[in-house]
Amino acid sequence: MRFHVLTLFPEMIENGMNTSITGRAIAGGKISLDCVNIRDHAPERRKGRVDDYPYGGGAGMVIEAQPVMSAYESVCARTGSRPRCVYMTPQGKTFSQELARTFAKEEDLVLLCGHYEGIDERVIEKIVTDEVSIGDYVLTGGELAAMVVMDAVSRMVPGVLTNDLSGAEESFGNGLLEYPQYTRPEVWEGMAVPEILLSGHHGNVEKWRRMQSLKRTALRRPDLLESAQLTGEERKFLKDLLAKPEET
Ligand code: ADE
Repeated sequence: MRFHVLTLFPEMIENGMNTSITGRAIAGGKISLDCVNIRDHAPERRKGRVDDYPYGGGAGMVIEAQPVMSAYESVCARTGSRPRCVYMTPQGKTFSQELARTFAKEEDLVLLCGHYEGIDERVIEKIVTDEVSIGDYVLTGGELAAMVVMDAVSRMVPGVLTNDLSGAEESFGNGLLEYPQYTRPEVWEGMAVPEILLSGHHGNVEKWRRMQSLKRTALRRPDLLESAQLTGEERKFLKDLLAKPEET
């Protein structure tokens, strides 16, 4: 996976992405990061300026179409293709695990970050294939949102997580929230680890974890259960749970 980020703040993206698991994936060549500074595509006469007043008036500045187009074309020239171009905006489709999985199939992915009051709509019409929001709140720019998308996509790329199973098993991987985890000591502040996890009986542990996932999902995110694949026994467990949540 090769990420290309069109941004006014490349150092913000580089600092974030070169850290922790994504940093290791970049160093190990599993993913790559290419930040294109939109400012470097300003016309000579504008001396690095890429924003202007909005037609029709109003507060703030708008990023001009041409520098964004030129930044995208510079990526196309390098890749020899016209990659999917994701514009980070609160007006977009809400990001999800499913979208992360879809994006992970691309060889090259362009992420376009806006700032100020946005980007001239005409270049969005020309180059953007997906408009994506990371939630119903407004950030000062698209950079943090682009990093959220790249982080979630990276962990779907083979070899990025050392334990390749963990990407699939965690919350949302199977449409459910994850079960609780415990590590040493066995008793902490008077609180013991659930017995079953010390039993060494793999089958029972798996069953317990599945039930814990179902319970968490039912109590915290019941909307997710609508599309989860459940057995008859699991449906009965949930029915009993919702009747008497404290006993299950
Ligand atoms: N840019 C500003 N706010 C955003 C959000 N919530 N999601 C994606 N991009 C954004």
